Formats: sequence, C-alpha cells, structure tokens
Amino acid sequence: MAGISDRPFRTILRDFVPDLPIVTEMISCHSLVGRHKNCLRNFDNYAAEGNIGAQIFGAVPNLMADAAKILQDAGAAWIDINMGCPVPKVATRSGAGAFLMCDHKLAGQIINAVVRAVQIPVSIKTRLGWDDQHRDWADLVRIAADNGAAWVALHGRTRAQGYAGIAEHPEIKDFPIPIIANGDIKAAADVETMLGRGYSGAMIGRAMLGRPWVFAEILGKAARPANLGPLVMQHLNLMIEYYGVRTAIPMFRKHLAWYSAGIPNSSDFRIRVNQITDEKTLKNEILQFWGCVAQI
Ligand SMILES: Cc1cc2nc3c(=O)[nH]c(=O)nc-3n(C[C@H](O)[C@H](O)[C@H](O)COP(=O)(O)O)c2cc1C
Repeated sequence: MAGISDRPFRTILRDFVPDLPIVTEMISCHSLVGRHKNCLRNFDNYAAEGNIGAQIFGAVPNLMADAAKILQDAGAAWIDINMGCPVPKVATRSGAGAFLMCDHKLAGQIINAVVRAVQIPVSIKTRLGWDDQHRDWADLVRIAADNGAAWVALHGRTRAQGYAGIAEHPEIKDFPIPIIANGDIKAAADVETMLGRGYSGAMIGRAMLGRPWVFAEILGKAARPANLGPLVMQHLNLMIEYYGVRTAIPMFRKHLAWYSAGIPNSSDFRIRVNQITDEKTLKNEILQFWGCVAQI
C-alpha cells in the first residue's frame, strides 16, 4: 500500500509473522528505471526481507520488464503488477493501474513482457472492472493466465467505486490460476468465507492499519499486545532510522492516529502529536499516552 507498506512497517509486520508474504508500495516503472532517489529507498534490500512481492505500475511493456528485472536483482521474491489503482495520476493520466482493465490487449503485453524478463513468479492485482457496466475481471484473469501470470489478487470493487461501499467477492470456479480475495477482509471468519467461495487465499489492506498483529491473529499465532506502547515506539524508531527525523515524524502521524483509535483521550492525543516536530517531545507523548517503558 502506497505510503504504508514501507520497510519500517514491513519490519513490524514480520515481527508477528516472519514468513508473511507482503507486497511493497507500488513503484513506478519510470522512477525505477530512471533510478530516482526516493524510489531507490523503497527497494534497497529485499533479499534480507524474505517473502516479498515488489509491486510495479506503468503502461510501457519494455519499461515494466526492465523495472521487474531491477526488482528481481534487488531480491524480490515475486513481481506484482498493479492493474487496479484508481487514482487519476496513475489510472487516467498515465494509462496504468486500473486503466489496464480498459485495455486488455496492453495488459496482456505488459504481463507477457514482465514474465519473460524475470525468473520469479509474476502476479497481477486488479479489480472487478472499470465500472458496473464493465465487470470483466474474469476475462482479465484468463489473459493473465495465458500470458504466464502465477496468480491474481482481486479487489472486489470496480474502479468507479474507489474504496467506497462493501466489497463483493464473486464465486470462483474453473480458473487456470489461483485467485486471491481482497477487500474488507478483517478476520479469520472472512478468510474462511473466501476459501469457501473458491479463492486460494486472502489479501489484507486497511485492516492492518494500527493493527499489524492482524495476520498473526488470523493465523492463530498471536493476539493484540496488551500495551501497544513498545510496538508504537519500535515503529517510530524504525521510521526515524529509515527516513530521518524530519521526514519520519510527519509520516508517522497517520500511524499514531490508527494505533490510538478507540483509546480514551485519543483525539486530544492526536491534536497534540500532529503539532510536534521534535523527536524527544513526540516520544514523551507516546510514553505518557500508553504509559509504557521503552528504549528511546
Ligand atoms: C492508502 C492506500 C494505499 C493503497 N496503495 C495501494 C498500492 O500501492 N497498490 C495496490 O495494489 N493497492 C493499494 N491500495 C489498495 C489496497 O491494496 C486494497 O486493494 C484495498 O484497500 C481494498 O482492500 P482492504 O479492504 O483490505 O483495504 C491502497 C489502499 C489505500 C487505502
């Protein structure tokens, strides 16, 4: 998830489930091939991270292939191609992401080019279709399979829906490759429902925000920590180490909002921390709010 599944957050997730398959933030093939500085920071040592899928987006098959090779060399375990992102910058202005649901021929060419460029599995992530009149996900799944994709992750909304409404998960029957369900999956019972509908697995997005133990909880391996303070502090320290204080502190505010949601006095806490730019003051706020003892 863009702005979320960066290396610090992935580290936190892996502390709960070491072999968890995690997909990176989406990375533009243009930035990757041009080796832009901000983009390089996102994929520097996948090899040390284990089971990680690097997600790329773009609309030019040979650039997507080159980007995939760079990520394979950086140690990605698989390449995921974004064919579902609805934001205008990606989908309408660049003809990438969700736009590829409108151009299955180009989608097939991109998958083919990427599959031929790398030796690791290639998956796609897509949606039910562009809008209610074009729910042609099944065609795109078959095109993905014909061009060598190993599996498809299917977000149960159309591009027109964005992230609104409740995700729908159509019954899966007779597809040549596995389909992973995505959209509104929050708990073990949801995963069971998806398996019952013919999906081969489930992918979780927003349910992990402020709840990085959710995967461990679903797998029956761990529960919510009694006190989130040490976890929050560890996450902040990882962010500071990775981005530097000036960038990390504003970026961490959204995580603080998610971690503190539902806890008494959290709205006052959020108002206070949203003004803070200094590391020591922020850490003191965290220590006081969660009443924790942690190494600063
Ligand atoms: C802030 C945000 C960033 C996202 N970034 C990405 C992304 O980079 N790549 C992607 O395939 N999906 C991205 N998504 C979509 C999610 O992966 C997921 O498909 C969607 O949120 C539905 O699943 P959920 O209900 O489990 O969150 C993003 C969603 C949000 C809310």
